[in-house]
Amino acid sequence: MVEAIRKCPAFEDGCSFSKRMENRLNECKAFKNGCPFKDVRTQKEIAEIMKTIPISHHATKGTASSGDEIDIAATMKQMIGDIRKTSFDLNQQMGKCPIFSSDSVVDGLNNEAAKVLRDLDMVLTEEDIPEEKSDLEFSKSIKNESWEAHEHATTHPFMNIFMKGDISFEQYRQFVQNLYFVYLTLESEMDRNAQNEIINAIHMPKILSRVALFENDLSYLFGENWRSLISPSDSINKYTKRIQFIGENHPELLVAHHYIRYMGDLSGAQILGRKAQKIFSLPESGIGINFVKFSELPTKEEMFQFKNRYRKILDNLPLSEKIQKEIIDEVNLAFTLNTDFFSEMVLVKDTNATPPPAPEISRESIPSSNFNSFTNSVFVSLTILGAISASLFLYYYNEHNYHQ
Ligand code: HEM
Repeated sequence: MVEAIRKCPAFEDGCSFSKRMENRLNECKAFKNGCPFKDVRTQKEIAEIMKTIPISHHATKGTASSGDEIDIAATMKQMIGDIRKTSFDLNQQMGKCPIFSSDSVVDGLNNEAAKVLRDLDMVLTEEDIPEEKSDLEFSKSIKNESWEAHEHATTHPFMNIFMKGDISFEQYRQFVQNLYFVYLTLESEMDRNAQNEIINAIHMPKILSRVALFENDLSYLFGENWRSLISPSDSINKYTKRIQFIGENHPELLVAHHYIRYMGDLSGAQILGRKAQKIFSLPESGIGINFVKFSELPTKEEMFQFKNRYRKILDNLPLSEKIQKEIIDEVNLAFTLNTDFFSEMVLVKDTNATPPPAPEISRESIPSSNFNSFTNSVFVSLTILGAISASLFLYYYNEHNYHQ
């Protein structure tokens, strides 16, 4: 491992594994003359060394280097836990290791050394020995293999003028009205294919649906007769036709369009929403940018957790390698459809339109996902409860005063 360690950023400040286990390693005779793993080059070589763990290590009682009597099996379990935690932390910090393929070195031992440990009646439980899995989780492959396209989208001139605060109100509302057609098509195709096993796994309309929110925003941005004032641009027609075609012919590829829209909404679109609110001094209520709001995920933390949950769902979709590759290709195509759309948006002529004053907020005007029936019923219940309490209070107060 000398070579790997020299190049590996995880070992820049020394061995993270030994740092975590320092005290326990001192107890082990195998580490007396330095780390026995320091010269290995492959996972196989690690497995070979693991095989040399003496049979005595399954005993609960043994003698440590210090001469103290210790519970060896329990110590080994803690060490394996330490290896797992260290690998997990390193993965989080610097992404998946291209050499050791799974979540920890122990997992990476699939399956030879893990079996040896089990044969030794070591403390590894079934769940410690993972099933054989592919080198990279699907969510990571999608992200890695479309990141260049993502970078291309984020640096597009339209995104640049948006981020700099140089877009006109007309450009903004054209941007929103066009995206509305994308969601209209995507959400209707998702609904139509909701019985498909793959689609069902990612279909979470209660949390994700955007159409009602867009409609609310559009009625503010274009006024009451907004429906007659909007229409999809050429690139958006292409985009929606593609989603429709996919929905009708290859529903599992809808995953790509679902991923790019909602993961994008929970990421960069949050920045764009706040930016738009600032540039055009849009009302604090959120009208005009509600299409990037997620009432079910009101905090950054909840959005972050949801994105991780979504990634896990992607990782567990029962997809063949072929379909996985097709989905990744479709994500890249979807990025191109988006950048084509941005190129149109750069050319939108200014009409001197300005944002209208904030509308009066009535409960009816807020889409159900923002002011849902639960909130509504709590509100009604509290009002009734309040009225009953007030009546009871007045009744007893009067009674009390009357009898005095
Ligand atoms: C200036 C514009 C943009 C910025 C600043 C931006 C920024 C970001 C950032 C910081 C992330 C990482 C979030 C995380 O890992 O939690 C992200 C993820 C993502 N963005 Fe963007 N983005 C922009 C535009 C777009 C566009 C136009 C799309 C597609 C239409 C898009 C789609 C995505 C997707 C799908 C992810 C999820 C990647 C993953 O974790 O798998 N983004 N974006």
